Amino acid sequence: MLVNLNDILKKAQKEKYAVGLFNTTDTDMLQAAIAAAEELSSPIIIGTAEVLLPYGELELIAPALIAAAKRASVPVVVHYDHGLTYARCVEALQRGFTSVMFDGSVKPYAQNIAETKEIVKLAHAMGATVEGEIGHVGEAATGDNVLTDMYTTAEEARAYAEDTGVDALAVAIGSAHGVYKKKPMLNIGRLKEIRESVRVPLVLHGGSGLSDEDFAKSIAGGIAKVNVFTDLCLAGEKAMKEGTEKNLGYLETRNRKVDAIREAVRTKIRLFGSAGKA
Ligand code: 13P
Repeated sequence: MLVNLNDILKKAQKEKYAVGLFNTTDTDMLQAAIAAAEELSSPIIIGTAEVLLPYGELELIAPALIAAAKRASVPVVVHYDHGLTYARCVEALQRGFTSVMFDGSVKPYAQNIAETKEIVKLAHAMGATVEGEIGHVGEAATGDNVLTDMYTTAEEARAYAEDTGVDALAVAIGSAHGVYKKKPMLNIGRLKEIRESVRVPLVLHGGSGLSDEDFAKSIAGGIAKVNVFTDLCLAGEKAMKEGTEKNLGYLETRNRKVDAIREAVRTKIRLFGSAGKA
């Protein structure tokens, strides 16, 4: 069942669980993610990101994502993650994505607001939802998560959400994309301040490598969507290495990779509390 963010995140916010966004670059990852959600009767968000397009073209991956969402037995949002340009966000919407993230977080504040607003206008007219970002969630490899001046403030979050009309808001509270060099320390106090200032569901990026306790605290503190990609790649990579070592051949190795990714998605769905919420 193809839905948008509002169809699933409002309920998640009210009932204090989170729905995972699992990015995919191909139909193997897609199949694994949807199978895990169906097994656990969980809503799910699937998609790709602008930086991932070299690994899976939008023109090719979009029809697969949409077909998989439509035939799934659970609610599925097809989300375009970290849209960096207006043109690509428009393309994703035209190709049938039900949700886009516009990431203007490294742009000057006024420009981020102005560009996000344009995308919100278009997406809403098409029945799609928009996620924005204020503050900046960077890369774990460069230690961006400890740069507290990039963290979102409650006042910025309130002004940005009100001015742009976004449906969900990504916040920077100490997580980052990729593999952490040192155990991250999430600023849950800041998250709670933001939660009190903003009405829309809040999003935690960089969901790989966080502890069970990090998830429990951030979901209790108001996070309703968690983005995951790196942990799926690591699970798939490990299974492929094992397949190669055991000389299993291409198709058997591929099946093991899909099973490993499915298990990684299942683990996150259980931690996020969205099992049984479809
Ligand atoms: P990870 O790759 O660290 O899980 O982050 C995913 C993400 O936030 C995509 O927007």
